[in-house]
Amino acid sequence: MNDRKKILMIVGGGIASYKSLDFIRRLKERNLEVRGILTKAGEHFITPLAVASLTGNNVPTDLFDPENEAHFSHIELARWADLIVVAPATADFMAKAANGLANDLASAIILATTTKVVFAPAMNVRMWENRATQANIERLKTYGYEFIGPTNGSMACGEYGMGRMLESVEMIAEVERRLEPPCERNYRAIVTSGPTREAIDPVRYISNHSSGKQGGEIANALYEKGFEVVFIAGPGSSLPQGGMEIIQVNSADEMLQAATSSLPADVFVSAAAVSDWKIAEYSDHKLKKQNKSQSLDLSFVQNPDILQVISRDVKNRPRLVVGFAAETNHLKVNAAKKLAKKGCDWILGNDIGKESDTMGGDFNEVLFLSRTENDKWPRMSKKEVGARLADRIYQHINRKGT
Ligand code: CTP
Repeated sequence: MNDRKKILMIVGGGIASYKSLDFIRRLKERNLEVRGILTKAGEHFITPLAVASLTGNNVPTDLFDPENEAHFSHIELARWADLIVVAPATADFMAKAANGLANDLASAIILATTTKVVFAPAMNVRMWENRATQANIERLKTYGYEFIGPTNGSMACGEYGMGRMLESVEMIAEVERRLEPPCERNYRAIVTSGPTREAIDPVRYISNHSSGKQGGEIANALYEKGFEVVFIAGPGSSLPQGGMEIIQVNSADEMLQAATSSLPADVFVSAAAVSDWKIAEYSDHKLKKQNKSQSLDLSFVQNPDILQVISRDVKNRPRLVVGFAAETNHLKVNAAKKLAKKGCDWILGNDIGKESDTMGGDFNEVLFLSRTENDKWPRMSKKEVGARLADRIYQHINRKGT
């Protein structure tokens, strides 16, 4: 059986198209099976013959070519690949993909595939910065498409700035990372996510705005990497894909109970926005208004700090404990304090100040802190944060775990 990984290269039209030829050559050197297709714009820059010579396969260019469709239809091509790389990905091509257009072979494949798709954008800096391009990219990210680059540099047009496609050696590293086989569920991860609800009486509660999206994406990414995942979800939080164990909870006490009884685990990720307080005295009947002037005083007591308990108090502490720090001010200082106080190994700091759309949104800006590192990740989708964190967790656990 042929178990070589299969890459479908879609070459768009731009001066960076020539780099794709070198990229294909390097993919082939790594014993990957490659098929290539060219967009109409791509054909202006490189020829189907060049791509065919390097891949060893014919190069269809037309969705409506009866011979190609009979030989290897666009649906077959969309299913064939383990990974689809669009390089260079032009502003025009990404706009089409973001809007679900499918009026040529390349865009029809993108719409028809369920395979992971990676875009390697290349364009003039002003085109890159244009709000329409950025909006299309944000939308593609929320659909789960991934991006390699672009980077800063001088451009063929003589300008300097963001929009250069990465060099093929850098692209190869990114592609190889995405092709790594998942580990065999030898590692167990617990992820908490979403808000908690602290009941006041049978009909009322206090809670917060967390959507649980980030926790869900982390759980998905760990599961995709091959971790056995226990996902402890606060109310209303997005539930990840099937296959993992899901425990739904309401209060912080229930979340703590679910977390400790899911131990032992290799990793604990505390993405939940746990309510710091609960009602001191829960009323088992609905609190009633007595008269118009009556006010209500509620008193609260602190909830257990789940992250701290798992980091410091349990006998079978996971080898890696990861927390979050949601801060409205002094992100770095406060996140560093939390790392020390709670005793976890890594903290992902989030600025949730006035300008931020992190809470409830699809994007996140993370400050990664460990005892030795301090790394600001660029703004990216919560899905990308999940993938990046899962990669890091896997590298850490795999290095120390065997
Ligand atoms: N956390 C927890 N249990 C709590 C409170 C927080 O496990 N009772 C975890 C969160 O999941 C997160 C980290 O602790 O990983 C930091 O949460 P955050 O809300 O940023 O801070 P707090 O600890 O609540 O502190 P403060 O409200 O003072 O900022």
